Amino acid sequence: MIIAIDGSAASGKGTLAKRVAAEFGYDYLDTGALYRAVALSLLNASVNSNNIDEKQAVNATLTLDLSLTQTAEIRTDKVAALASIVAAISPVRAELLALQRSFAAAPPSGKGAVLDGRDIGTIVLPNADIKFFIDADLDIRAERRTKELLQAGQSVMFRDVLADMKARDDQDRTRSVAPLKAADDAITIDTSKTDAAAVLALALSHIDRVGPSE
Ligand code: DC
Repeated sequence: MIIAIDGSAASGKGTLAKRVAAEFGYDYLDTGALYRAVALSLLNASVNSNNIDEKQAVNATLTLDLSLTQTAEIRTDKVAALASIVAAISPVRAELLALQRSFAAAPPSGKGAVLDGRDIGTIVLPNADIKFFIDADLDIRAERRTKELLQAGQSVMFRDVLADMKARDDQDRTRSVAPLKAADDAITIDTSKTDAAAVLALALSHIDRVGPSE
């Protein structure tokens, strides 16, 4: 079984994806971490992040060290901002598309896969068994992200996080290639006023209807 979860930044899609995967013993792929890892490897190579050269971005993708996806360094707002820019480059997306599809086609558990991102239900896995689109009010998402970053020891201010998140949202939604949007057959969940446990329960009730796994 393949479960696609898309949504905006800090909407709760990652939390939901991890919990759904744990519930069924499926494998989870955080596809945003791939774009973040490409961004981090560019920053590590000291590129000028205000003027990204497409060739450099493609090269960083082709030579990507996947272990970067597991590092804390990819979780900064600086990396997130560059990830959003890199994610608008078509050949970068094409390269990462193959990797995401292979993961879904042969998840290590051999049981099922949960992928979260921006274009999983629309482009990466249009035939996923079930699709969710997770969103929440911008202010609430920025508040959540500010808390997360402070807890991770980063010094940030709500106002800056809000501005960065808005810029990133606009970029992700309006880019010409694979923009952030709900697939026509996605189930939309607004997490503004719902906690993670209730979001999970709601998602599981939908998955049950589709007939999950053993
Ligand atoms: O989910 P995230 O915040 O970790 O994602 C970081 C950036 O990567 C986000 O701004 C857009 C991009 N992204 C994407 O374009 N497509 C995906 N499937 C996942 C992330």
